[in-house]
Amino acid sequence: MSVLLSSSILSADFSRLGEEITTVEKAGVDWIHIDVIDGHFAPNITMGPFVVETCKRITRLPLDVHLMIDNADKFVEMFARAGASCISIHIEPDANIHRTLQVVKNLGVMTGVVLNPGTPVHSAESVLHLVDFVLLMSVNPGYSGQIFLPETVERVARMRRLLDEINPKAQIQVDGGVTAENIKSLHQAGATIFVAATSIFKYPQGAAEGIKALRRAVE
Ligand code: DX5
Ligand code: ZN
Repeated sequence: MSVLLSSSILSADFSRLGEEITTVEKAGVDWIHIDVIDGHFAPNITMGPFVVETCKRITRLPLDVHLMIDNADKFVEMFARAGASCISIHIEPDANIHRTLQVVKNLGVMTGVVLNPGTPVHSAESVLHLVDFVLLMSVNPGYSGQIFLPETVERVARMRRLLDEINPKAQIQVDGGVTAENIKSLHQAGATIFVAATSIFKYPQGAAEGIKALRRAVE
């Protein structure tokens, strides 16, 4: 499977959001990652459907919406209507995760289930047949710029084995602290979609060079 890079706008300069998105689009990023945080499920309060709608007007790239919120079921339709191409939902706060994922699937957008670093890989087993991808967090959710948790590599390998049994077409996405130093080992373990905020928008030589460095390291 080919590698997809999803650029998280959490580290973009919001006073120039349009330009920032155009820069990464021109530099060949595959998806735009939008981190929705409610201050309950995860610390920090970030963006809502309005930002998704704004991004939709700026870019043709798929919008990869990562919901770090309680009661995701109440909001998925709103995000789909705002223009999300993928919606990923955390397993931890959702007692009805099976139903929420089905709802997202029925909205006609790609579906992901997300696991925090402390959530056992096997806990997603009974919903893996419903998803297009599994997002394994490689930091605890809330902020960009955190340090990559190295145990993620082994978790990716374990999740890949589980998916090969249950849903071989599903991909693995990794989010948090992804850099040119760790992307290759994550890919070798079975991840194919990589989210990056700091390694792109805060790259010292600029976002376009950050994207090149990630691609060079993995391809
Ligand atoms: C963390 C978010 C991530 C974050 C990644 O809660 O889900 O998408 O923006 O940022 P970096 O790449 O800086 O770790
Ligand atoms: Zn994210």
